[in-house]
Amino acid sequence: MKTDAEKFYTERKQLLRFTIDALNYLPALRELWRKNLEFHPKMKILDVGCGTGALTKTLYEVSRQIQVTPIKFCAFDLTQTLLNEFQRWIVKKNQADVNIIKADVRKIEDEAPIYWRNFDLVCSSGVLGYLEERELKTALWKIRTRIKDGGRLIVMESREHWLNRILIQKLYKANLYGKEKFADMLHQAGFRNIRYWQFPKLYSYLNLWGYIAVAEK
Ligand SMILES: C[S@@+](CC[C@H](N)C(=O)[O-])C[C@H]1O[C@@H](n2cnc3c(N)ncnc32)[C@H](O)[C@@H]1O
Repeated sequence: MKTDAEKFYTERKQLLRFTIDALNYLPALRELWRKNLEFHPKMKILDVGCGTGALTKTLYEVSRQIQVTPIKFCAFDLTQTLLNEFQRWIVKKNQADVNIIKADVRKIEDEAPIYWRNFDLVCSSGVLGYLEERELKTALWKIRTRIKDGGRLIVMESREHWLNRILIQKLYKANLYGKEKFADMLHQAGFRNIRYWQFPKLYSYLNLWGYIAVAEK
């Protein structure tokens, strides 16, 4: 049986595409990675709740541009129809080093392959709000086990304010975990050195939508 989030995105996959295009999300992410992230060869990256692949695709493109290869990408999502769209991109790029599967972050220990571990970077955008608070706390623990010592977690989530209460809670049916509350949960899950990045200047309107939390294992 489909969960609520899976049903939501199966019925409204155009909504995600529309939002990504309208917000210029892909160019913003490319610029964000270029400015902030150090890539290195043989890096392993996991995209949690990848949807149509916004994070992985932009990480892949930037790593190619700056000629840091090979990088191994793994990604999973709950919604098959979004994964199908992502898969078409992978086939078009003929990119064997991008592996995607259907899995639920709440059951990552059973549904993600056992060898999906020791990631240098685990990233996620607009996903964790679909979990209830208790599920989120547990999921952060489980995600942490897949990161290598000294590796990083980067999470983009919606801020808690009146506009997001309409857009994110009502329209997107997700919970809002404010910056401080989320930092607290990261601490409780054993992450350290928590800090925040900003979306690049040209795309600073995205900072009104969300925060980018960066934490270390
Ligand atoms: C707003 S979309 C974001 C997709 C993508 N990360 C992006 O930035 O374009 C939210 C995504 O979370 C996924 N999702 C929701 N609950 C999930 C869960 N429990 N496990 C895995 N993915 C989940 C949905 O299927 C959807 O693809």
